[in-house]
Amino acid sequence: MYIDIDHIRQFSNTCLTQLDMPENEASIITEALLEADLREIHSHGFLRLPIYVERIQKELIRNQAKITESNENDVLAVLDGHYSAGQVVAYQAMQKSIEKAEQSGIGVVAVKNSNHFGISAYYSLMAAQQDKIGIVISNVSPLMPAVGGAEKVIGNNPLSIAAPTGETDPMVLDMALSNTSFGKVLFAKEKGQEVPEGWGVDEKGRSTTDPDQIINGGFLSPVGGPKGFGLAVMAEVLTGVLSGGHFSKMIPSMYDVSQKQSISHFMLTIDIKQLISLELYYESMKQLVSYIKESKKAEGANQIYLPGEIEFLKEKRNKEQGIPMEEKTFNKINEMAKALKISPLEA
Ligand SMILES: NC(=O)c1ccc[n+]([C@@H]2O[C@H](COP(=O)([O-])OP(=O)(O)OC[C@H]3O[C@@H](n4cnc5c(N)ncnc54)[C@H](O)[C@@H]3O)[C@@H](O)[C@H]2O)c1
Repeated sequence: MYIDIDHIRQFSNTCLTQLDMPENEASIITEALLEADLREIHSHGFLRLPIYVERIQKELIRNQAKITESNENDVLAVLDGHYSAGQVVAYQAMQKSIEKAEQSGIGVVAVKNSNHFGISAYYSLMAAQQDKIGIVISNVSPLMPAVGGAEKVIGNNPLSIAAPTGETDPMVLDMALSNTSFGKVLFAKEKGQEVPEGWGVDEKGRSTTDPDQIINGGFLSPVGGPKGFGLAVMAEVLTGVLSGGHFSKMIPSMYDVSQKQSISHFMLTIDIKQLISLELYYESMKQLVSYIKESKKAEGANQIYLPGEIEFLKEKRNKEQGIPMEEKTFNKINEMAKALKISPLEA
């Protein structure tokens, strides 16, 4: 089924404002979830609205943001999100990182006591839309064991790097540091599907294609084995450790509705024009894009894509037809709407 964009936008904002969230904050969350579904990263789209609502109702996420700053200078700042909504905190942190980059060439903002912020590209693209390069990292509750370990100790921490290309869409790498995101495993479970080999292991570390075995007691596997594990550990350093916030086993799952989460983020923006001229940058990007796009294709391959290109193509298509939604997600969202006593979502 497909959902009309304006309809779901209004629906999501109504759900959140019903919980006494200010309209501007509700709108940031809604737009970030919408962007995920438009890009067909459904694992981080409106599928997450019911758990956000439940966490807000249980006062695990603030319904009205409180964000304070410390250790601020022309280049750096630490933000404390005081358990405000992740999207609202991350949006403000990225804006600050962009402002500092505009002023000083580079802007680094470390964030503590935030919440799940959805897709990391939403924030890195804010920089790319302003002739800047954006780097965004978040930690999450541990989902992966150490190499040789059999206990969840490190998150599949998402990482995004967005760089403007000039004439075409920005290049945007947006990835979990696991072979796949936990949300995609949840999404496969929602659809009653198996997951591909290599996405995760069961509680004894045995390879499995059953999403239930990964979710209940099992683990996600890092992308690229020890290298992905190493990147995930360093992401934890840049987020939780560097912000003075929580990391690794300190962070409970967002589906544990008895505890606050305390997620940390790291935002870095580079103002390109303060390193090289924008003219040279865009000329070089054009050249890089053409080297990649025009490179010889592997046998059987029809197309070569840049990082983020597939998601931009999906976004363009879905802006025309509405966002695709699984029936299970639709039903879960409408159970929530009923409990909130608001008009249901319509397909
Ligand atoms: N907030 C959180 O706690 C959290 C945690 C994990 C993941 N996430 C989000 O989950 C999302 C999904 O992550 P993922 O790792 O499953 O993404 P993915 O594996 O679908 O894609 C990863 C990257 O590979 C690129 N890519 C994919 N196929 C390609 C191809 N054929 N050619 C060139 N590039 C290609 C994509 O454009 C993307 O940049 C991301 O948006 C991430 O930010 C969020």
